[in-house]
Amino acid sequence: MTDFHDDHGRSDGPAADIPPRRSFLARLGAIIVGTLAGLIPVGAGAAALLDPLRRGSRDTGMVRVTRLSALPVDGSPKKFTVQADRTDAWSTYADTPIGAVYLRRSDDAVIALNVVCPHAGCFVRLLADEGRFGCPCHNSSFDLDGEVNNASSPSPRAMDALAVEIRNGDEVWVRFQHFLPGRDEKVPV
Ligand code: FES
Repeated sequence: MTDFHDDHGRSDGPAADIPPRRSFLARLGAIIVGTLAGLIPVGAGAAALLDPLRRGSRDTGMVRVTRLSALPVDGSPKKFTVQADRTDAWSTYADTPIGAVYLRRSDDAVIALNVVCPHAGCFVRLLADEGRFGCPCHNSSFDLDGEVNNASSPSPRAMDALAVEIRNGDEVWVRFQHFLPGRDEKVPV
């Protein structure tokens, strides 16, 4: 096949058109790849920046609340503030109040109840003279084990019991958690 050339010796066949087009496509491809490569670290950085927002609601795990000797031996409930390191969106606060529990001795065991009412989140009070807990907001009533003891109580479940461990002989450790109000079952938040 004959190859044609102009006065300057340039070829005018199909081969003369391809290199510029390939060059353009190659540049376009490089731009796209470069842009995508640049977006990956931006996405990773944004995820790292936003991650603390997801940490705020994490379980605090077991927290030392008090000593066994601080609990009445007659089984009367006693209220304790729970303190732990607390992490919000971007900061950690050491040894900060994060809630409260009622603790009571039951034989050799300890029962821990979150003070927050499972109905709508008010703080349940100990009505020692009446031998029960009562919520001032809508009159839910609970026995000293935290069970609903009045059919007219609007609370859909018992007070939220928390896991307890006795460590080192007399340290009372509690797994402090909150649960969604208004549900029949305990759903941790
Ligand atoms: S919040 Fe306790 S009874 Fe409604």
